[in-house]
Amino acid sequence: MQSIKYSIQDIKERLRNSKAVTILTGAGISAESGVPIFRGKNGLWKNFRPEDLATPEAFKREPGLVWEWYDSRRQTLSRLKPNPGHFAIAEIEKRVKDFTLITQNVDGLHQLAGSKNIIELHGNIWRVRCLTCGKVAENRDVPIKILPFCECGGLLRPDVVWFGEMLSDDNLTRAFVASDNCDIMFVIGTSGVVHPAASLALRAKDEGASVVEINIENTPLTASADATFLGKAGEILPQLL
Ligand code: OAD
Repeated sequence: MQSIKYSIQDIKERLRNSKAVTILTGAGISAESGVPIFRGKNGLWKNFRPEDLATPEAFKREPGLVWEWYDSRRQTLSRLKPNPGHFAIAEIEKRVKDFTLITQNVDGLHQLAGSKNIIELHGNIWRVRCLTCGKVAENRDVPIKILPFCECGGLLRPDVVWFGEMLSDDNLTRAFVASDNCDIMFVIGTSGVVHPAASLALRAKDEGASVVEINIENTPLTASADATFLGKAGEILPQLL
């Protein structure tokens, strides 16, 4: 684990003196829980094509196939638990006055670890949305019925953001505010290639925040980050407490 400019102790000190902290997470925070990440040699997008499974067109074409894929991910997730990285983030929230967690993950593991103020940029796999009446509801059925229908008779879809879809305005505005107003932003376990999430750290930096990255490898953000700690989030994050 290394960061040229700052040590873990330096960051710990900064964290202690910060009034507003924002954390952005990606699939890497859940990797140590056993959730597959998207990119890289064993990533989900190596074996599946997003355009077949994670677009509104794919759902229109073959809703059963898309639901089968989400059902299999839900089945996997139902057996998994938060890891020390998730728990450390929940603990940081308790110690900071103004704290926001922005996650790109849909797995719900941050909530299970106790995180409260969360912006789920890409939705949540444990919610469904009716294509007819628009109602959003929690649904934890494992396995889920293929195809699931709403009480109004409309087809339900996973309440997640697919490729080609817009993020919710409300979530995006809250994420911008949290990025623009923090003293320190941690960017954890994301490859930093999907926008707008990837641009949040640069906004934070432009507004004067320190940006600290935790990842097992360098990313496009590394060159602009104030510090990058290379290693597993579940091992590095607990050291900040
Ligand atoms: P990626 O799969 O693109 O990136 C995961 C990142 O986690 C990589 O940079 C890994 O190096 C890092 N990583 C893996 N294990 C780690 C560990 N134990 N500790 C720290 N870092 C680790 O996932 P995301 O960046 O989250 O979007 O992907 C962004 C979005 O692309 C996802 O939300 C999803 C996907 O397509 C939608 O579905 C809309």
